[in-house]
Amino acid sequence: MNIPFHRAYITDEEIDAVADAIRSGWLTMGPKTVEFEQKFRDYIYAGSGVTAAEQHAVSFNSATAALHLALKAIGLKAGDEVILPTNTFIATAEVVTYFGATPVLCDIEDDTHNLDVRSLASKITDRTRAVLPVHFAGQPCDMDEIMELGRRHGLKVIEDAAHSLPSSYKDRRIGTIGDITCFSFYATKTLATGEGGMATTRNEQYARTMRVNRLHGISRDAWDRYTVKGSWYYEVVDNGNKYNTTDLNAALGLAQLAKLEWMNERRASIALQYTLAFRGTAVEPPVVRRDRETCWHLYVVKVKNRDEVSDRLREDGIGTSVHFIPVHKHPYYRDTYGYRDVDYPVANRVFDRSLSLPIYPGLTDSEVDRIIEKILRHAR
Ligand SMILES: Cc1ncc(COP(=O)(O)O)c(C=O)c1O
Repeated sequence: MNIPFHRAYITDEEIDAVADAIRSGWLTMGPKTVEFEQKFRDYIYAGSGVTAAEQHAVSFNSATAALHLALKAIGLKAGDEVILPTNTFIATAEVVTYFGATPVLCDIEDDTHNLDVRSLASKITDRTRAVLPVHFAGQPCDMDEIMELGRRHGLKVIEDAAHSLPSSYKDRRIGTIGDITCFSFYATKTLATGEGGMATTRNEQYARTMRVNRLHGISRDAWDRYTVKGSWYYEVVDNGNKYNTTDLNAALGLAQLAKLEWMNERRASIALQYTLAFRGTAVEPPVVRRDRETCWHLYVVKVKNRDEVSDRLREDGIGTSVHFIPVHKHPYYRDTYGYRDVDYPVANRVFDRSLSLPIYPGLTDSEVDRIIEKILRHAR
């Protein structure tokens, strides 16, 4: 591909940061992880009005791990139901199944591709324990309405923010609104550490549960045990998981966090270039509501001849992708939970026409121009 769908934006700053971490001799979770959690927490909660004592950030080796332990922290049990949009990566549904709970899918909005609050409300039963809104492509969901539904029905709100760092809803940064918010640092994300994730919460008990369970349910991190202040003694207080991050990933994360705002400005300017070029053409640009800001993790257009456009662009050396094959269409989930295509008409329509275009800080203006020229030639 001359223009791949994604290219990680890694410079000597990241390479030097990781080399320093390796030279330090502390390879796993340690001082760099602590620093990354602190700086990430400060970044998310800056200007939020949340008191310092209520600001928590817990790192993981993926967003999937963060979502899993977020659901554990709220006490999800077998037989419970959790509502999530069908337009998401499978991880959002998968974590619910770890508990023997049921992922209940709702339909989405035709313009934002985010969950449709009316569809969500219609799926609430007396077994519903939580809602998992996914801020698709970076654009926040209708958080006021979702939080209000949560309050009225006693549901916890765990935000899947894998796409939305940094995004904001009515001037509130994503990460400060729901009960727990889970971010991803997977290779293609707006902040990339290869693999990684972070959960933010204002609830100290949730933070403690996630912290303990990310390392086998051990009462103290290895970092506490092996430093001069530490002691060899520890206790296992829960049946945890091995979900901790490493100082190598954290060092990469710190270097990326320092340039996150700049990287995001570049994404926004590429998105603007695309949107101006696509207005009034056969390529339908994404819609962003006025009261929220997206970080443009993805730029998803709609075209009638999606498969043909994708094939032609590949022949032109331009990589694209599709987000997402809806959860209800995956054979395992369809067969296990009995999802039916007819129940998700909007998601099906959106899926048939959606195409994700390259958008990343290292994409040049002339590459963007070339993508625009080619897609306008192929779209009907
Ligand atoms: C919406 C969504 N949720 C969750 C995940 C899982 O993230 P991770 O790969 O960090 O586990 C992804 C990953 O792409 C995602 O797109």
